[in-house]
Amino acid sequence: MYKEVHKSLLDWYEKNGRHELPWRLTNDPYKVYVSEIMLQQTQVKTVLERFYFPFLEAFPTMEDLACASLDDVLKKWEGLGYYTRARNLHTAARECRGTFPRTAHDMISLPGIGRSTAHAIASFAYNEPLPILDANVKRILHRFFALSKRDEKQLWTYAYQLFDPNHPFEYNQAMMDVGATVCLAKKPLCDVCPFKPACLGKGSPDAYPEKKTTRSKPIRTSVIRIYRRDNRYALMQRSSRFLHGLWGFSETVNLPIGSTDHFLGDITQHYSHFTLAGTVYLSDEPFEDERFEWFSLDEIKELSLSRADHKAMALLRYNLDQKREDGC
Ligand code: ADE
Repeated sequence: MYKEVHKSLLDWYEKNGRHELPWRLTNDPYKVYVSEIMLQQTQVKTVLERFYFPFLEAFPTMEDLACASLDDVLKKWEGLGYYTRARNLHTAARECRGTFPRTAHDMISLPGIGRSTAHAIASFAYNEPLPILDANVKRILHRFFALSKRDEKQLWTYAYQLFDPNHPFEYNQAMMDVGATVCLAKKPLCDVCPFKPACLGKGSPDAYPEKKTTRSKPIRTSVIRIYRRDNRYALMQRSSRFLHGLWGFSETVNLPIGSTDHFLGDITQHYSHFTLAGTVYLSDEPFEDERFEWFSLDEIKELSLSRADHKAMALLRYNLDQKREDGC
């Protein structure tokens, strides 16, 4: 039905596609899986430059990942954010017992693999004829079919309608590339778009999809206290849902400032649903809490910390260096 459109897209992909991306040069389902999970919430450039290869070097196979400790997996994920992804990868590896599922249908039962991710992995690793529906593809479909309403169920119908079942790999990778380089959210490059002849939204791309009503993120203020005893510092392993497993300093909503609390600085950390505004203190106050353990500065380097705790740690190091320079 979309014969011309498919040909135009394939030709465009052959000339302009990002063929050199390493996860496109393999059909090892484990490597494709790792790349797709990393790319869910992180840009290609970051994944490529800092995370994909070191992670695969540390855990070359699904079995290696399953045998690793969660702490080691989180350490390799440190800096990528959205740590639930790392915990899910680890759990999924253990559930798979070394063998990755052969179909998208079976992948969906693993934690962290939704429908679009399952379709991406299955089409890239096994050439299974299934369309993807990530944020970039949604935008293309909204414009191509001139759909202003945001309706996920309806979009899946359109995703299947436009899909090229004869070239699942190329079609899905090409859709990702058109979304990332041509059909941009702001100032799309319609003149060079392979969909131009048939796209219903090309005259007014900004109208599709309709704008979201944006709600500003709440600001959560907290006091981060780095307790010190004999040149060791108190950290606990976090149990909150989204930082679970990472180590961090004491964090309270507001605890009175003690006479041995030294102000180190302020930090800001943006999370998906709120912004953390933290005030950081170094504290020599007595501290007893069995959830905490005491670490030297060198030992802290080996722990996985959240970005906010890394920022607190940077303030601590700066302060200690200054003191050393002042000869205190
Ligand atoms: N984002 C998610 N999956 C991707 C892929 N395979 N190539 C480029 N960007 C992506």
